[in-house]
Amino acid sequence: MDQLIIFGPPGVGKGTQAELLSTSLNLFHLSTGEVLRKAVTEGTDLGNKAKAIMESGSLVPDDVMIGIVKEALTTNKNQNGFILDGFPRTIAQAESLSNIFKDLKYENVKVINLIAGTEELVKRLLKRGRSDDTEETIRQRLKIYYDATEPVKDYYDKQGNVIDIKGEGSKDEIFGYITKALSV
Ligand code: AP5
Ligand code: MG
Repeated sequence: MDQLIIFGPPGVGKGTQAELLSTSLNLFHLSTGEVLRKAVTEGTDLGNKAKAIMESGSLVPDDVMIGIVKEALTTNKNQNGFILDGFPRTIAQAESLSNIFKDLKYENVKVINLIAGTEELVKRLLKRGRSDDTEETIRQRLKIYYDATEPVKDYYDKQGNVIDIKGEGSKDEIFGYITKALSV
C-alpha cells in the first residue's frame, strides 16, 4: 500500500505528478488546494472563508486544514493507498498528520520532494494563469513556502523518509525519476 506525500514549492509539479501517480498506482489523491478551490466554486462556508486568503497567497488556518485532511483520510482508509498534495505546509500540520497516521496505522509514509529553481516556478505559474497566479500572489506564495513550509522538509528529513527528485525536465521524465525511486 503506497503511502505518499508529494512536497515542494508552488508550481513545482505536485498536482501534475500526483495525478500521474494516482492513476498508475490506483491511489486516493488528496489535493488540499483542489478541495479549497471546489469549495470556493460551490460557495460553501469553507469556500467563503478561504477565497480571500487564497487570492492573497496566504495559508488557510491550520485547524481548518487539519480537520479536512483527517476526515478525508479516515473516510478513504480502505483504498489502495494515498498521495497527499499540498499538505502538510506548516510544522503544526506535519505534527498533527503524524498523529493521524498513528491512529490509522500508516507506518510506511514516503515524502517525494520535488526540486526546481525559482525562475522556472514563476515562469510555469505565469503561463498557467490560475486566479492565484498573478505576479504579486506568486511572490507571496513563494515567500510563505520558504518561511513556513520548507521547515517541514527538515521535519521529515529527521525521520529519514524523504526522496529528493529533480523537478525540472519533461513531465514524463520526472514521472520516470519518481517511479524509479519508489521501486527501490
Ligand atoms: P495549492 O493548490 O496547493 O497550490 P501550490 O502549492 O501553490 O502549488 P500549485 O498547485 O500552484 O503547483 P503544483 O506544485 O501543484 O504544480 P502543478 O502540477 O500545478 O494551494 C493553493 C492555495 O490553497 C494556497 O496558497 C493556500 O492559500 C491554500 N492551501 C492549500 N493547501 C493548504 C494547506 N495545507 N494549508 C493552508 N493553506 C492551504 O504545475 C504548475 C504548472 O506547471 C502547470 O501549468 C503545469 O502544467 C506546469 N508543469 C508541471 N510540470 C511541468 C514540467 N515538468 N515542465 C513544464 N511545466 C510543467
Ligand atoms: Mg497543485
